[in-house]
Amino acid sequence: MSSDPRERGGRGEAELLVALAVQLAWGADEALEETPRNRFGAPAELAASPVPPLSAVARDSALSFTALSPQAPRLAAPPIAGPVAQAERAAASADTLEALRELFAAFDGCALRETATNFVFADGVPGAPVMLVGEGPGAEEDREGLPFVGPSGRLLDRMLASIGLSRREGTVYITNVLPWRPPGNRSPTDTEIALCLPFLKRHIALAKPKLLVLAGGVPARALFGAREGITRLRGRWRMLEILPLVEPVPTLATLHPAYLLRNPGAKREAWTDLLLLRRRLDEVSPQVRQN
Ligand code: URA
Repeated sequence: MSSDPRERGGRGEAELLVALAVQLAWGADEALEETPRNRFGAPAELAASPVPPLSAVARDSALSFTALSPQAPRLAAPPIAGPVAQAERAAASADTLEALRELFAAFDGCALRETATNFVFADGVPGAPVMLVGEGPGAEEDREGLPFVGPSGRLLDRMLASIGLSRREGTVYITNVLPWRPPGNRSPTDTEIALCLPFLKRHIALAKPKLLVLAGGVPARALFGAREGITRLRGRWRMLEILPLVEPVPTLATLHPAYLLRNPGAKREAWTDLLLLRRRLDEVSPQVRQN
């Protein structure tokens, strides 16, 4: 083995460059740490109030996934502290969608805010009978500041149009679990989802949709606290309680358009879900006609 430090350094550098190339090929486009860091707060304070796991937050929040666990006893609520409590307080203080947008955009407890280009809140007409919740912005959404404007958004628009719905015509209102793009389009962590969940619940409560559609596993995981994959969760209506709404919201989980772009064979299942949506909409809002 050579003892020449330059040679050792050269080999080390080559290995690092190969490792970097692999990460780039996997889609990494930012140099970040594993866990989000609150760059505005005191580190000691943050360490003293860890974010609870998503399952605990969903279980003890205002949501219940009645179809999955109709008789499930309510467990004692764990203390929710730190940034999640901050998010809950901010979200609860919003009386209008505009106030919610401002409070969410100003919320600095989620590190995704530091790497995203734009805050992506919603598109379509608030008050539309159908509200669709996706996962989080991709590259194009991050650039434009609007949800579902990239390739999966174009497919989503075509899917909705096939049952006579459109965000432009006020029949669908669209948002995401996360308003900030995760770097390199990686999956969001449970912590990131837990931090954004209070805003999503308040968003639904203020938009008051007649029907809710969850596109993909992330919103289903966030709102139902469910661990099953989307292929098992999709295709059935479930009632989702969102306080302070008096009535639970009929909610349908379905496949994400990005998944359909990668797996065109799954469009059959997606079509079945779209028909379920159209049928239920005809029942609850017969005036929303299909052309
Ligand atoms: N995928 C999503 O889930 N949401 C978007 O806004 C774009 C892509």
